[in-house]
Amino acid sequence: MTALPNDRPFYLLNEGKIQANLARIQEVKDATGCNVLMALKAFAHYQTFPLLAQTLDGCTASSLHEARLAHEYFPGHHHAYSPAYSPRDFPEWTDYSQTFTANSLQQVAFLQNLPTKHNLEIGLRINPLQREASNPLYDPSSPQSRLGVIAKHLKSQWPKGVTGLHMHNLCENDSHSLERTIESIERDAPFALEACEWINLGGGHMISQHDYDLDHLIQLIDHLQKTYSLRVILEPGAAIVWEAGSLHAHVLDIVAQDEVATALLDISITAHMPDCIEMPYTPQVREGRITNKGCRYRLGGNSCLAGDFVGDYHFEHGLFIGDEVIFLDMAHYTTVKTHFFNGLHHPSVYLQHTDGSYTCLKTFDYTDYQSRL
Ligand SMILES: Cc1ncc(COP(=O)(O)O)c(C=O)c1O
Repeated sequence: MTALPNDRPFYLLNEGKIQANLARIQEVKDATGCNVLMALKAFAHYQTFPLLAQTLDGCTASSLHEARLAHEYFPGHHHAYSPAYSPRDFPEWTDYSQTFTANSLQQVAFLQNLPTKHNLEIGLRINPLQREASNPLYDPSSPQSRLGVIAKHLKSQWPKGVTGLHMHNLCENDSHSLERTIESIERDAPFALEACEWINLGGGHMISQHDYDLDHLIQLIDHLQKTYSLRVILEPGAAIVWEAGSLHAHVLDIVAQDEVATALLDISITAHMPDCIEMPYTPQVREGRITNKGCRYRLGGNSCLAGDFVGDYHFEHGLFIGDEVIFLDMAHYTTVKTHFFNGLHHPSVYLQHTDGSYTCLKTFDYTDYQSRL
């Protein structure tokens, strides 16, 4: 049986929690018959695809490489969406994905004129101008957004040969955000709903959170299916692996300056938890609390970036060199975004099975760092 390392950092994915998240998706599928795709941008450990494919109908890819990974490891029907497709990626991409969503009318024409033997299914992304994401970094719905065509610019003319409508404006939102978005499309683009065969409601649905109203989502999907005879597709990413991974680091040293004690860890925030700086997002730490009780430590990474740290946490019994520090909810948008800044040792990736055993999915060494330079 594989043992977890105690002298190197690692991500630990939790098979049981992924299954629990998938079970909620299955409930929605059973009640509505909708299709659900895995958004690979959020999580792409292909070793888990056999598990995901028991519930999900395929993947949605944002690039040629994601599309190829889906084709090679995930049985199903694969979608693609890119803000702009590069002619250089074709015809290869058509070997991997069956449905392509365009971001503009020019891109519709590009896809329709591809000299390909395949009969591509084509969709068009619209910008519903319905702002629901609280963080501007994840809000594609501003009037200046580069993502999607503003429906009224289509002047009630849905482009010929485009069978699907795609929208994505949510980010960790509830079903009421989706309801407002559907209402905005019904108000501004009823012609699109009537012209299409399918609608892709994008990602950002927090289906795995215990207080997400699954019945309400089911009602909304039913409404679209019954009113417009649309096939409904969802493409969540984060929800599939929500709270299904942790990052295990170790304290290498503790430095105190100006009343701040920083525990230096054998990971880097910028390299191994990049959203903590990009969003920014402060993760929970097992046994570490962001309160004013206990011993306070700033948790710092081991790169030379001055800002390579997350918030200040309190630990009841203090921290010591060699202690393990466990960051929670480190599966979505984490391992897909890491890098090798400073040549730092990259945490390995393990999967914990429901029987308590572990499989090592990936380890990294010098050759991984060297081969990408
Ligand atoms: C077009 C599109 N679809 C799906 C997703 C997945 O979103 P989430 O991981 O929030 O569910 C994203 C995320 O950015 C996206 O841009």
